[in-house]
Amino acid sequence: MNILVLGNGAREHALCYAITKSQKLTKLFCAPGNYGISNVAEVHNFDINNFDMLYDFCTEKAIDLVVVGPEVPLVNGVVDFLEAKDIKAFGPKKVPAKLEGSKIFMKDICAQYNIPTAKYKNFIEKTAAEAYLHKQTLPVVIKASGLAAGKGVTIATTLDEGLNAINDIFNDKFGSGCELVIEEFMDGEEASYFVFTDGKNYIPLSSAQDHKRIGDGDTGPNTGGMGAYSPAPVFTQAIQDQVNKEMIEPTLKAMRDLGTPYQGILYAGVMIKNNYAKLVEYNVRFGDPECQVLMLRLRSDIVELILGTIEGNIHKIHTDWNNNHVATVVIASNGYPGEYKKGTIIRSLDTAEDHENIEIFHAGTEFKNNEVLAVGGRVLSVTSSDRDLKSALENIYSAIDTIDWTESTYRKDIGWRAIENG
Ligand code: AMP
Ligand code: GLY
Repeated sequence: MNILVLGNGAREHALCYAITKSQKLTKLFCAPGNYGISNVAEVHNFDINNFDMLYDFCTEKAIDLVVVGPEVPLVNGVVDFLEAKDIKAFGPKKVPAKLEGSKIFMKDICAQYNIPTAKYKNFIEKTAAEAYLHKQTLPVVIKASGLAAGKGVTIATTLDEGLNAINDIFNDKFGSGCELVIEEFMDGEEASYFVFTDGKNYIPLSSAQDHKRIGDGDTGPNTGGMGAYSPAPVFTQAIQDQVNKEMIEPTLKAMRDLGTPYQGILYAGVMIKNNYAKLVEYNVRFGDPECQVLMLRLRSDIVELILGTIEGNIHKIHTDWNNNHVATVVIASNGYPGEYKKGTIIRSLDTAEDHENIEIFHAGTEFKNNEVLAVGGRVLSVTSSDRDLKSALENIYSAIDTIDWTESTYRKDIGWRAIENG
């Protein structure tokens, strides 16, 4: 098959890495891609949200399958579009993609189907949101309803912070529309859980844990994710059973009830406390950086799994994971998630890549005048697989030590909770 991956992050680099091992692959393409991805796929830089351009590309290159990495094209209906043109595409259609694209939609589904999640109220009117905020005990969580590239959530510890967050959303600061959700703050430990589903049946992927804050010890602002590891011991079999029964199954039923079954990968972000999980959010795609660690543990053919979600026979496909522990540490441009400089030079990447058991997945890189340049916020995802988490992390940090890139930042404590809890 000729396969096209859409996206330009380390997640898509990891997906390309897994797809290149597939027996079904003839030729791999990626758009818009990045420098790292160009070493494993033919990269074409065009606007993937321009569906006519995408269709022309698919026709020209005789693409049989499109694997959609990021949420924006899914929420815009890329799968509906391609399917109508008889091109197979991996991911949910426009309506079920609202589980990520509209927090109001997602919370209302939870309420209707008794899915455990934070108590909430939706607002489309500013003064009503402000009045409600005044009556809440702090901290409280304020979320833009639409897609906001990970920037639309504020955990307000003071009234002022809360009022500012409401103000930002009603000024459409995140380009996510003027609708918001105010919800109860949940404490506990977060984990990410993924299932491949054809709408009716589903198969779980192994568990993973992300590190969302920029700073060591989970401090500072939220980011897209600064590191991850798999398996995540906090996500026990009992939690998995609970999440399947109380979240995944009712959600898949809800999407069938709407007449638009959910096909693709469903990502539940959960908060675990006292051995009970509550839903924080749904995403309709792989997590980044969780995908990077999962792809190093997956032994089965990912293309067979993807086709299983599209063709409705996911339950017949066997998934096999290696027993290794995999971790990834994200190196970002200094300043991220705030302002950062673009075009700084990364040296000695080859030396780091030559380390044993190391895979480096690229996000924001470019190759110009014989130099590797950092052109994004999150730039590299240094990933390692080993017999235990500690060894994987040692491999990663010693590889990072050899990378010569001063204008960068990364967390030194990825995996700390799992190691501390033994
Ligand atoms: P979301 O976009 O809904 O995933 O929110 C981004 C991050 O904000 C989550 O991964 C959590 O770390 C945090 N968060 C969101 N909602 C809550 C909540 N109700 N209680 C505590 N933390 C939350
Ligand atoms: N790792 C968080 C996300 O992909 O949304």
